[in-house]
Amino acid sequence: MRLKVNLKNLNIGRGKIDKDYDKAIEIMRELRQASEPMTEWVRQPASLTGDFILEIESTAEEIRSLCEVLIVIGVGGSYLGTAAVAEALEAQRGCPQLVYAGHNLSGNYLDKIVKLVQRKETCLCVVSKSGNTMETRIAFDVLKEAMYSKYGDEATKRIIAVTDSESGSLREEAKDIGYRTFAIPADVGGRYSAFTAGTLFPLAVAGANIREFIQGAKDIAEDIEFWEKEGVFYALARESMYAEGKSVEVFEFYDPSLALIGEWCEQLFGESEGKDGKGLFPTTMIFSRDLHSMGQFLQEGNQIFFETMLSVRNWDNDIILPTSKIEYLSGKSLNEINQIAMEGVVAAHSAVGIPIVIIEIEDNKEYNIGQLLYFFMMVVAVTGKLIGIDPFNQPGVEAYKSEIGKRLGKKS
Ligand code: PA5
Repeated sequence: MRLKVNLKNLNIGRGKIDKDYDKAIEIMRELRQASEPMTEWVRQPASLTGDFILEIESTAEEIRSLCEVLIVIGVGGSYLGTAAVAEALEAQRGCPQLVYAGHNLSGNYLDKIVKLVQRKETCLCVVSKSGNTMETRIAFDVLKEAMYSKYGDEATKRIIAVTDSESGSLREEAKDIGYRTFAIPADVGGRYSAFTAGTLFPLAVAGANIREFIQGAKDIAEDIEFWEKEGVFYALARESMYAEGKSVEVFEFYDPSLALIGEWCEQLFGESEGKDGKGLFPTTMIFSRDLHSMGQFLQEGNQIFFETMLSVRNWDNDIILPTSKIEYLSGKSLNEINQIAMEGVVAAHSAVGIPIVIIEIEDNKEYNIGQLLYFFMMVVAVTGKLIGIDPFNQPGVEAYKSEIGKRLGKKS
């Protein structure tokens, strides 16, 4: 099934949404040409070659045979796609387990990962397009040392580096030492890199079917009718919400395994749109958990937000409830109750005028998660352009980096 966009509970006039339709369609046409810098991701799912996919799969197979744990070292767009998809797929089908490092500066955290290297059969996959990111560099330097002291020279074959094809300290080091490498294309930014080796390789190691994941993205990318009749309206709705004064988009998920898709959305939407004093602030809630903390605010608080809910139609696992003291629950399926909870939330929130978009996918498997990620990437690119910002740069991240660097004695 193709992903569906439901705007029935939007509570704003269709005229407002339709106003920039032609402009949005034109933006999408231009994006599909991928002629603008940093837009190679648009046609990437379709342009990945069979040889490239085979190379990822065969290297992944080899790494799978070597380790119980694959430590994925990276930050931001260089690890969130992997973490989000692996968690959503529940791809940890046995061995190896994916563990993440390089996404924080906590000595406490990294020390635990070093101990893991000592205890478990380990391989490393370091992902950094620039090859110079501080968090990634620190974690890699530390974990590499732990690997060489455990495995000696054999560590080299347990390390895979995914980085720019030519530049950066990681590329240089890989050439010097002989790590196996994959390249991140120059014209794909971190948060748009879900269909590069930086995500595909660790997912393949975790046992995900990357062909299905790529196929889902490819099919939705090429479905022009979907974009023109359905997909584009989510981008237009977001633009209208923003124009109407909404400043927050709450991404809502009804299963904890989708929490990292929420984090991935936060980065994609936040880093793409938040510039020039503009943009919707993206945040994530997991229901029903957060209804017991934020439900009050959503229902009656400051109405600065709209909601984007993800509905997943089918799950492999379910529980039928035993006889319960709450009689009306007895014998019901828990997934059915979860679905009814969503309908209840939509009814209660719609009643007080909260705009709600529902994105529906068939299941949490590779094909549909691939569609979902590609869909969000295209949507943010279109809305970003509609609101007049460049969705592919991130100039604002330099300020804090430079302040940290100064304090650590970095020469400018
Ligand atoms: O989306 C982005 O561009 C960023 O989040 C980067 O992915 C992140 O800063 C890591 O950069 P790099 O891959 O160069 O280490």
